[in-house]
Amino acid sequence: MMSHALIHSICYTGVGIFGNTVIYRWQEVINWRFGNMATYAGIFMVLMAINAFRAKYYDVFYFFHKVFYVFFIVGIARHCWDFGWMGWVWASLTVHLLERGARLYNTILSGLHNEAHAELFDDNTFRVSVKYSKRWALGPGQYCYIRILHKNLFWQAHPFSVYSSPDEEDENIQFAIKAQNGATKTIADFLSNQPNRSARLPVMIEGPYGHHAPIEKYDTVFLMAGGMGVTATYAYALHLKRLAKRGQKIVFLWIIQNTTPLEWFGEELLSLTGNSNIELQIYITRKFTKRTFSGADSDEETESDIEDVDLEKGFGVAADHSSNINGLTHKDSQRTLRGRPSLQKMLPAQRLQDQFGYCLYDKRPNISEEVSKFLNGMNGNMAIVSCGPPILVDAIRKSIVDNIEETEGRVDYFEEAFSW
Ligand SMILES: Cc1cc2nc3c(=O)[nH]c(=O)nc-3n(C[C@H](O)[C@H](O)[C@H](O)COP(=O)(O)OP(=O)(O)OC[C@H]3O[C@@H](n4cnc5c(N)ncnc54)[C@H](O)[C@@H]3O)c2cc1C
Ligand SMILES: NC(=O)c1ccc[n+]([C@@H]2O[C@H](COP(=O)([O-])OP(=O)(O)OC[C@H]3O[C@@H](n4cnc5c(N)ncnc54)[C@H](OP(=O)(O)O)[C@@H]3O)[C@@H](O)[C@H]2O)c1
Repeated sequence: MMSHALIHSICYTGVGIFGNTVIYRWQEVINWRFGNMATYAGIFMVLMAINAFRAKYYDVFYFFHKVFYVFFIVGIARHCWDFGWMGWVWASLTVHLLERGARLYNTILSGLHNEAHAELFDDNTFRVSVKYSKRWALGPGQYCYIRILHKNLFWQAHPFSVYSSPDEEDENIQFAIKAQNGATKTIADFLSNQPNRSARLPVMIEGPYGHHAPIEKYDTVFLMAGGMGVTATYAYALHLKRLAKRGQKIVFLWIIQNTTPLEWFGEELLSLTGNSNIELQIYITRKFTKRTFSGADSDEETESDIEDVDLEKGFGVAADHSSNINGLTHKDSQRTLRGRPSLQKMLPAQRLQDQFGYCLYDKRPNISEEVSKFLNGMNGNMAIVSCGPPILVDAIRKSIVDNIEETEGRVDYFEEAFSW
């Protein structure tokens, strides 16, 4: 559209230059001025939307995109008012307003004044639990936008995958959020200065959005997540667990850099362990950092006590799937996990050892091998769901393509991917 607008503007500028009417048009012809305004606003919108700029300075892009949109639509409306073609302007305004209206409706549907309880963990990840209107049901594949009602943040809404608590009595929406460099960092910094690194925050929730991959229809399901991608795959695992379809086999694989995510996602993982249909595999890819909590939570140790444990010494390397991280002693676990009351309640060291010991592997999995093993070892129709960092998701997708010939059954692949 902007290419057409540019051709139109350049041609008319040519007409102005060759007819020596450019100055007259700027001074006397209101259509000319508004047409130029719309063209310049449109050019800036397109240039600022180029990914290299948008990804780096998203907030700047977002602000100016909105401002230039107003200049663009006012300019184009005034430009067309006398000439005609207003139908296009009304049509585009209608689509824009309908989209805004739908978003407002989704916000009202979720309740205008929601309260969130947020708790920060050691890896700059915070867990958020939000009371909402319950006018819609939580399900896998959903995500919502969170808007923090604070003077510096209210104008931003960020999308996060939602999942329900493993505790069926708890009907709040759950989020797990990793701090990046913008709004999420501001919240993490705020929480780090609060007692117990937790606080109540007024928020608005907009949603739900997303799609539901119909994985309940498959005989076997492979859920593969890296890092925060677990929020999406867990929602599916819980859904399948609650459906309890007879004979359905589920493999739940999660790759994380260290054991800290087990602190904020321990209860969720434990909720999957009692089910013989679900096989859990947790891979820890980097050094295990035996880190104590400094400050209010830790009375004996300081930052200088932070100590890296060599995986080989600390755990004993798992050579294959039959071995596990059995070198994690009870004492180590207590030291590592101490100081976080909810954690002590949630994941006593012995429980970590007992419940996860059998499925923890201290290495990076070979994605191609994992996918090949799954495709060869399972029967019937298979679904593979992935969510995680783009590089991991690419590897999973490629491995499926490389290995798909190895199986007779139907294989469907669902990606909970997002890229800006
Ligand atoms: C469907 C979906 C589900 C997600 N689920 C989770 C989840 O469960 N847990 C989790 O930790 N993260 C999740 N994310 C990612 C999360 O939304 C971003 O990490 C968060 O918005 C970054 O906010 P920030 O201002 O702190 O980031 P910044 O550091 O400012 O930006 C990080 C990157 O995101 C881009 N970006 C930031 N804000 C926006 C925006 N509003 N719209 C478009 N691009 C933006 C920036 O250009 C930059 O590339 C999800 C994203 C999507 C799309
Ligand atoms: N619905 C959605 O779309 C949705 C929902 C939630 C999250 N997300 C997104 O998911 C992504 C998760 O990011 P993160 O920062 O949490 O992840 P991360 O910590 O950077 O990575 C997670 C793990 O994946 C491993 N890994 C990466 N590539 C691999 C490969 N090829 N083979 C084997 N292991 C590999 C890493 O191993 P190493 O330590 O060896 O690098 C790491 O342990 C984010 O982009 C997040 O926003 C999307």
